[in-house]
Amino acid sequence: MELKPETFKRFFPLPLTLITTLDKQGVTNAAPYSCVMPVLRPLDLIALASALPRDTLKNIRETGEFVVNVMGKPSFRKAIKCAKNFPPEVSELDALGIESIPSKMVNPPRVKDAIGWIESKLEREIKGDKYVIIIGKVVCSEINDVYLENGEIVEPPIVVLVPNFRLLGEKIAKREEFLDDLSSIKF
Ligand SMILES: Cc1cc2nc3c(=O)[nH]c(=O)nc-3n(C[C@H](O)[C@H](O)[C@H](O)COP(=O)(O)O)c2cc1C
Repeated sequence: MELKPETFKRFFPLPLTLITTLDKQGVTNAAPYSCVMPVLRPLDLIALASALPRDTLKNIRETGEFVVNVMGKPSFRKAIKCAKNFPPEVSELDALGIESIPSKMVNPPRVKDAIGWIESKLEREIKGDKYVIIIGKVVCSEINDVYLENGEIVEPPIVVLVPNFRLLGEKIAKREEFLDDLSSIKF
């Protein structure tokens, strides 16, 4: 069945990441981003697509740093809730009780129970009328030791999203759970 061009996302699986950044006052911002991808192999680059009215984008432009926290089953629900509107002086992590730990190479913190962390520095941005593609140089990438056994990576509890916040094949959340604040968000 042919779909409208803009609806290919109905069958396009996406990761769930939480991007952590710092504002000029040093307050941590955390926002879920799914339009995130590596830039080829073996390059040390990561790209994310951002809508323009995003504190995440503003912070990356101001500080040049961000962390891509790859979220898995343990806390993806809390991660999605970070998309709700919080005042700028309130960190989503504190508001939702999401624990953070220091990063190694950048100032924004890591989310403690992420599957892994990709610490990045702004390399360049590509501007569209309604979006910006941020390309980051990866300065540190690390898998959470929880998912290691004898130095080998054991199967991490990866989350893959399809639209309407559904986990592949499984409903992960009622849309109404987020509707109040999220109905206007398009990505
Ligand atoms: C699961 C999920 C994935 C999202 N992915 C993106 C994305 O890739 N790019 C984007 O600009 N917004 C995305 N959003 C919307 C932002 O997370 C949302 O607008 C958030 O409030 C932005 O926060 P900020 O202004 O603090 O950056 C996504 C939202 C959800 C719930």
